Amino acid sequence: MRVISLFLAALLSAALGVGGMLLSSHGVQARQAAAGSSSTTDARHSPSSGLSQSDIAKMLPATDMGANAARQNNPHLPPINDSAATPFDAAPIPVNPLAPNADAIGAKTCVACHAQENMQASHTLHVASFRAGAANSGPQAACESCHGPGSEHAKNPTAPGSIIAFTHDAKTPPQVQAGVCLGCHAGGARQHWIGSIHQNRGLSCTDCHNPMVRLSPEGVLAKSSINEVCATCHQDIRAKFNRRSHMPLPEGQMACTDCHNPHGSITKPLLKTDTVNETCYTCHAEKRGPFLFEHAPVRANCLNCHDVHGSNQQTLLVAPIPMLCQQCHTMTLHPNDLQTPAGLGTGPHPDERLIGRGCLTCHSNIHGSNNPSGPKFHK
Ligand code: HEC
Ligand code: HEC
Ligand code: HEC
Ligand code: HEC
Ligand code: HEC
Ligand code: HEC
Ligand code: HEC
Ligand code: HEC
Ligand code: HEC
Ligand code: HEC
Repeated sequence: MRVISLFLAALLSAALGVGGMLLSSHGVQARQAAAGSSSTTDARHSPSSGLSQSDIAKMLPATDMGANAARQNNPHLPPINDSAATPFDAAPIPVNPLAPNADAIGAKTCVACHAQENMQASHTLHVASFRAGAANSGPQAACESCHGPGSEHAKNPTAPGSIIAFTHDAKTPPQVQAGVCLGCHAGGARQHWIGSIHQNRGLSCTDCHNPMVRLSPEGVLAKSSINEVCATCHQDIRAKFNRRSHMPLPEGQMACTDCHNPHGSITKPLLKTDTVNETCYTCHAEKRGPFLFEHAPVRANCLNCHDVHGSNQQTLLVAPIPMLCQQCHTMTLHPNDLQTPAGLGTGPHPDERLIGRGCLTCHSNIHGSNNPSGPKFHK
């Protein structure tokens, strides 16, 4: 028995050595990103590659959820203080409230029993970074910095709660699970996690993230893309994007997280900006105005006329024209009696000027006009 486990350990540490070397470039990037974000102006050259810290930072994927650079430079939006993750070399070992007296035993021991999980995890950002041997921590912290100290679990692996586990059927409560991740990822995009609808409904970080298997190119996601992650629970919303008119999300050019922060926000429903309209202006800046002649419902809320997730009407409209306009505008007072019941597309004598683009034939600048003679949005 003893001989076998020694042999196992030797075999594993050999495998780890190779894996560590192969994967070290990932870890180096991660560490430099962590270092880079605390001092982004630092452009020292790293001796091996000739690349500066900021070159490397630029090559890293942008997963800046709450506040991208555009937001930071936007005078209309309050800036968000994005805080960097706790670097791997400062990794604390979280306390497991269900095994408060356990001690850390080191990754090699975990790996001796969890060879398969270890093999998959070796390709992931976190474990690979630990393997790269961040100063102070070393590869030994690779498992317990998330799973907590393992001495009691190793003695009695089947005792529920002996180790911090991240699945819904595990004994570890969701807030302890999230607490582990927040131990290194507090603040920034997650400053409103506590009290957010996802937190309130008992979601854990690991409903959307899986740091044990590399499934997505970035973001340590539980599925291969952001939209697939959201679709696991919000199938109805994802399905609306299959309607005739939709923004290019199914085409892979947008993600739910362009408008929503799944980690929580102060704007319902989890919007990244303070109002619906501000969210739209981040991409449709020309709709912000200011206009000489404003159309009141546009200024109030884009959703008066548009269904963001998708619509079977043209251009994401909530109702077909002229009905859309007639929800608010009556037939009376219109020049030439254009809008009489008889003249409508559905009336006995349809007026051809109302067919096709309908009201938009004449009122073409429906979002507002800057033309001195455009108070009725004709120009
Ligand atoms: C002596 C072998 C052994 C060692 C050492 C060991 N484990 Fe386990 N571990 C197991 C077994 C067996 C199970 C399955 C228990 C079960 O199904 O009830 C398990 C289960 C787990 C689970 C899931 C627990 C749950 O409640 O769902 C996690 C997470 C885990 N181990 C992590 C670790 C980590 C991290 C270490 C190192 C600190 C470690 N293990 C060390 C044998 C071991
Ligand atoms: C960044 C945090 C993190 C690190 C580091 C980490 N794990 Fe995990 N581990 C998780 C999460 C989260 C899950 C749950 C994954 C899921 O949703 O299925 C998990 C799942 C597991 C499971 C399966 C438990 C189950 O319920 O099926 C085992 C076993 C395990 N980890 C062992 C390890 C070992 C061994 C290491 C070190 C090589 C390690 N983990 C490193 C976060 C981590
Ligand atoms: C020991 C500290 C530590 C713990 C614990 C930890 N992380 Fe990380 N995590 C990091 C560092 C460092 C990075 C890389 C630097 C960065 O992206 O900010 C990172 C990166 C990430 C990323 C971004 C990946 C990318 O592509 O940019 C996600 C997502 C993430 N971690 C999720 C989690 C989740 C979920 C947990 C809990 C299961 C967790 N982390 C636990 C330190 C930690
Ligand atoms: C409802 C799904 C969901 C939940 C729950 C969730 N995340 Fe995320 N998270 C995402 C998505 C989607 C991204 C975007 C990834 C990208 O842009 O590549 C992300 C990005 C991140 C990032 C990298 C970007 C950044 O802001 O630095 C970190 C770190 C992170 N999440 C940590 C966490 C932690 C910690 C928790 C638990 C407190 C958590 N997440 C809960 C979906 C979720
Ligand atoms: C594990 C399941 C799950 C996943 C995955 C998930 N959500 Fe949710 N989400 C929920 C639940 C549950 C609610 C609450 C629904 C309710 O109360 O009607 C919710 C609510 C929401 C809301 C409405 C908030 C409000 O204030 O009404 C938004 C927006 C949202 N989620 C966006 C996302 C996005 C974006 C993603 C992907 C990054 C995502 N969700 C992934 C379960 C999930
Ligand atoms: C272009 C911005 C944008 C994109 C992209 C987007 N949403 Fe939304 N979402 C909104 C706005 C704005 C609302 C508010 C709608 C309302 O109040 O009627 C909303 C509302 C929601 C709600 C709660 C209200 C409802 O309709 O049930 C959920 C859940 C939601 N979105 C999930 C998602 C998911 C999942 C995705 C990705 C498949 C996604 N959203 C993509 C802007 C967006
Ligand atoms: C992340 C960027 C982004 C955000 C935020 C965004 N949009 Fe879009 N929107 C797009 C793109 C890209 C298109 C497609 C443009 C094209 O095909 O020329 C589009 C197209 C549209 C269209 C035309 C659809 C069609 O069928 O022609 C409407 C209407 C629209 N968006 C409304 C909104 C509203 C309302 C909001 C705010 C709730 C919003 N958008 C937020 C990127 C965005
Ligand atoms: C009073 C109803 C109404 C409101 C409110 C409204 N729109 Fe529109 N929008 C329309 C109509 C009608 C069209 C179709 C125009 C066409 O086919 O020429 C349209 C088309 C669009 C388009 C695609 C064509 C283009 O002009 O680029 C975008 C993008 C768009 N709207 C964004 C927005 C945004 C962003 C808001 C909020 C600031 C908003 N809309 C508010 C009625 C409205
Ligand atoms: C949600 C209600 C609403 C919808 C839908 C709506 N409008 Fe309006 N519209 C208003 C309001 C409110 C005003 C401002 C009235 C005022 O200032 O007296 C206005 C103003 C106008 C004006 C200028 C009127 C004037 O006297 O200066 C025109 C023209 C107009 N709308 C056309 C349209 C057309 C065309 C549509 C359909 C594409 C439409 N509206 C959809 C609410 C709406
Ligand atoms: C053939 C061109 C044309 C079409 C089509 C048209 N309008 Fe007009 N509309 C006008 C003109 C011209 C005015 C008066 C402009 C002025 O007085 O300066 C006007 C004025 C208005 C006004 C402001 C006067 C009032 O009644 O309060 C509203 C609102 C309006 N139109 C809504 C609509 C709606 C809704 C439709 C579609 C059902 C529509 N229009 C279709 C040409 C048109």
